Amino acid sequence: MTVRPRPGAAAIIIAAVVFGAAAAAAGGGDGGMVGVDGTQFVVEGGRTIYFSGFNAYWLMMMASDPARRAAVVAAFTQASARGLNLARTWAFSDGGDQPLQSSPGVYDEAMFQGLDFVIAEARRHGIYLLLCLTNNFDDFGGKRQYVRWAADAGHNLTAGDDFFTSSVVKSYYKNHVKAVVTRVNTVTGVAYKDDPTIFAWELMNEPRCDADPTGGMVQAWVEEMAPYVKRVDGGRHLVTAGLEGFYGDGEHESKELNPWGIYYGTNYVATHRAAGVDFATIHLYPDVWLWGSTADEQAAFFRNWTRSHVHATAAFLGKPLLVTEYGKFLWKGGGANKTQRNYFLDVVLDAIYASASRGGPLVGGAFWQLLLDDDVVAGMDDLRDGYEIILAEDSRAASIIGEHSEQLASLNGQDAEALRRRRRRPASSHQKTRFGSGGDSDALRLPRTLLIRFISSFIQDNFVLF
Ligand SMILES: *[C@@H]1O[C@H](CO)[C@@H](O)[C@H](O)[C@H]1NC(C)=O
Ligand SMILES: *[C@@H]1O[C@H](CO)[C@@H](O)[C@H](O)[C@H]1NC(C)=O
Ligand SMILES: *[C@@H]1O[C@H](CO)[C@@H](O)[C@H](O)[C@H]1NC(C)=O
Repeated sequence: MTVRPRPGAAAIIIAAVVFGAAAAAAGGGDGGMVGVDGTQFVVEGGRTIYFSGFNAYWLMMMASDPARRAAVVAAFTQASARGLNLARTWAFSDGGDQPLQSSPGVYDEAMFQGLDFVIAEARRHGIYLLLCLTNNFDDFGGKRQYVRWAADAGHNLTAGDDFFTSSVVKSYYKNHVKAVVTRVNTVTGVAYKDDPTIFAWELMNEPRCDADPTGGMVQAWVEEMAPYVKRVDGGRHLVTAGLEGFYGDGEHESKELNPWGIYYGTNYVATHRAAGVDFATIHLYPDVWLWGSTADEQAAFFRNWTRSHVHATAAFLGKPLLVTEYGKFLWKGGGANKTQRNYFLDVVLDAIYASASRGGPLVGGAFWQLLLDDDVVAGMDDLRDGYEIILAEDSRAASIIGEHSEQLASLNGQDAEALRRRRRRPASSHQKTRFGSGGDSDALRLPRTLLIRFISSFIQDNFVLF
């Protein structure tokens, strides 16, 4: 990769030591429901919150077996020790051998109680949850399973993408939304729709559509489903579509930046503009998306992809943006090694911080994927996919992630409305970044502000990403 090195670790460590303790811990529902103000996420009192997150799709599955619940507790314990405050996980398992929904409208109570446990534990560990409601791909069912259910019931459907248009399948999906969103947690007694531990609902993991490459089918589906989720939820939680960020052929789209320059069936701008969609998402896998390309080509892709989406989000959406998946494939037969993977983490996390620290729309992310050692709970090794990060045994990755969490947390608690008004004003070269009165003394606030600005301009000068 040609991206220049990360800023002196010393500056980051100073920031962590000096300000780590002062950073407000606002996680897992304690600050109330997460909302949106312009391009920022906010909690109680309109104060900003930034997300240092991870993916762990397997949480419900493990928690459904009381003997393996220790895995969920260990994952949250290890994550919160590194300041992680967001977990993205599956609130679906459609059909198959370990279903949440075994057939349309029929639910496995043990699996649901697993999800109840996950939510209760997330709250206890100060971690918000991004809950995903089905899959574009076949893992854990997804759109093909929904279509199969309809076909089994005598409807003339065959293609997976019938998912987006069939009224029967859409009614199955809506029933699933209702079952999950209105579920009353058996551990806490709180209905999911009222639980501030849930940060947001995600309609689908990585919607794509071959049947309509330019994005119309997914567009119509999101326009129908996002407001539906809002309605069932009482409008309390945020909703997002689950997109990877591929561009379509609508206005303000940049298809030439898509991997291989092809369509994937979604529009980044138009779909994130749909009513009911509160924030935007992208995923980031330069190595697999551009399989066979050189490290330099992947680095160029990373820069263009990130810069373009940050720009489009600020200019055309005015909503927050999260990188809800990013990862680098470690594979002894030819993928990256850990040094390269850690470098990738550095670059992605620095890009997030560079935007967040300047009031930009890219305000957090979630790496793919957090796993545990097989010693914690047998069977974890089966979940390895080449992307796993095991914090307890990978001290370098754990410290990169931990430092990033502290940097982001130091930005929490700003007055989002003031931030928005400031950004609307024509740029004057040296605007003061001021932090809200979050209980810190003025004496502490000033150097913290200066140091944060130092780090962010350092990153800006050295990475030239934005
Ligand atoms: C099923 O749908 C296909 C394509 O939409 C159509 O060609 C076929 O005639 C239909 N079959 C029946 C039995 O309706
Ligand atoms: C990425 O951006 C550079 C210039 O910044 C440009 O030369 C290159 O063609 C872009 N790559 C793609 C895939 O558009
Ligand atoms: C990782 O791969 C890079 C690039 O091929 C190489 O320069 C480096 O020595 C490798 N590091 C380790 C620890 O294997």
